[in-house]
Amino acid sequence: MIPFPEEPARPRRVEIAPGAVHLPGWLTFDQQRQLVRACREWARGPVPMRHTRLPGGGVMSIQTVHLGWYWRPYHYSRTADDHNGARVAELPEWLADLGGSVLADAYQDPDAAAGYRPDVALVNFYDHAAKLGMHQDKEERSSAPVVSLSIGDRCVFRVGNTQNRNRPWTDVELASGDAFVFGGPSRFVYHGVPKLYPDSGPHDEIGLAEGRLNLTLRVTGLAG
Ligand code: SIN
Ligand code: MN
Repeated sequence: MIPFPEEPARPRRVEIAPGAVHLPGWLTFDQQRQLVRACREWARGPVPMRHTRLPGGGVMSIQTVHLGWYWRPYHYSRTADDHNGARVAELPEWLADLGGSVLADAYQDPDAAAGYRPDVALVNFYDHAAKLGMHQDKEERSSAPVVSLSIGDRCVFRVGNTQNRNRPWTDVELASGDAFVFGGPSRFVYHGVPKLYPDSGPHDEIGLAEGRLNLTLRVTGLAG
């Protein structure tokens, strides 16, 4: 029998830069389905998912719901003071634990999980036209790694440098179920999402009809 050339398997772990690690296909379809269901619930409130307002008067094209802390440009609070004033929902233990497991795999260090206690998660929804400009996650008073989970449509995730939003950068394609960690020397890299591939996700398998969800977990280092 003539063997069929196999599709090259996706690698399980790719170090993009020191401290920046891509874990393709880290989440099972089951886990993705559960996360989609949870995101749908969180999106209802107490602080409903919405487009974040920018100081200049515009709005971001992504929609966001916040767990643990409310983020707006450019600080954290517990309550949505520019919206309905409500306190955001708690970040559930199971989600923090999931972040710890990602970290352990990314850094191939089983002990990394126990010490990782993210206290904020931003859940972003991208419709086919949404983008996210190059920015740093820098309102935190902690240099603990950021853990990101992607579900739904594929996108280009741009991993830049720590100096400015320009080149050099590396473009990584993030697909449904992929995890990404940026910590260590890459904790404060500029990053963004310049492009989404519409209708490219496993929508039926995960229960998300369109678009992309991204969850980023961070440690704020803030008290109260
Ligand atoms: C973010 O930087 O907050 C989100 C990144 C992503 O959507 O992959
Ligand atoms: Mn970010």
